[in-house]
Amino acid sequence: MKKIVILISGRGSNMEAIVRAQIPGAAIAAVIANRPDAGGLEFAASHRIPTFVVDHKAYPSRDAFDAALADAIDAHAPDLVVLAGFMRVLTDAFVVRYSGRLLNIHPSLLPSFPGLATHRKALEAGVRVHGATVHFVTPALDCGPIVIQAAVPVLPGDDEARLAARVLAQEHRIYPQAVRWFVDGRLGFADGGAVTVRGEQDGPAGWTVPPVEA
Ligand code: GAR
Repeated sequence: MKKIVILISGRGSNMEAIVRAQIPGAAIAAVIANRPDAGGLEFAASHRIPTFVVDHKAYPSRDAFDAALADAIDAHAPDLVVLAGFMRVLTDAFVVRYSGRLLNIHPSLLPSFPGLATHRKALEAGVRVHGATVHFVTPALDCGPIVIQAAVPVLPGDDEARLAARVLAQEHRIYPQAVRWFVDGRLGFADGGAVTVRGEQDGPAGWTVPPVEA
């Protein structure tokens, strides 16, 4: 059984999607939030998943917070740490500690639109295609090796909320998929660092274009 710790900051809908996926061979060992009011804590607790808060406001520095967070994570000896809407920038020391077993989801087709306000940036840029990316975390923000992406159209009349909702629906598809691949031991790295998915010869792995809604 592969043990997974999920980190959240708020609503936790991606965490919820991963929990609901009931991935064979995976056990959600804990959900940890950096905010006591993170909405997702309630869902996790109601599914009998141990929940913890490591409140970043209680620590004098990023280093001190990340050290406390790492202690909370390591108490569960996880095989995989999943950032699911975890909105703190992590120190290099933290990221390196979990190298190769730290995943993040980002609401854009990286490398386009790293950072915050991705849907607004996509609308301002006038792109016709937007989406979401699951990637391994490396010290450079939003730059790690890409595991899977989903693309959605930007439609006439879209505002940030509509576009965010369309992207979020795809996040809920691709994050459980990426975790499933990790748990099954199917993710590897090609020369040059790109992620490979073993055993996906029959179709394209690592990307998905959903049907356009009416
Ligand atoms: C998601 O859209 C996720 O991609 C984004 O925050 C939202 C969290 O929603 N993450 C980032 O922007 C990371 N930089 P959730 O709490 O409902 O999963």
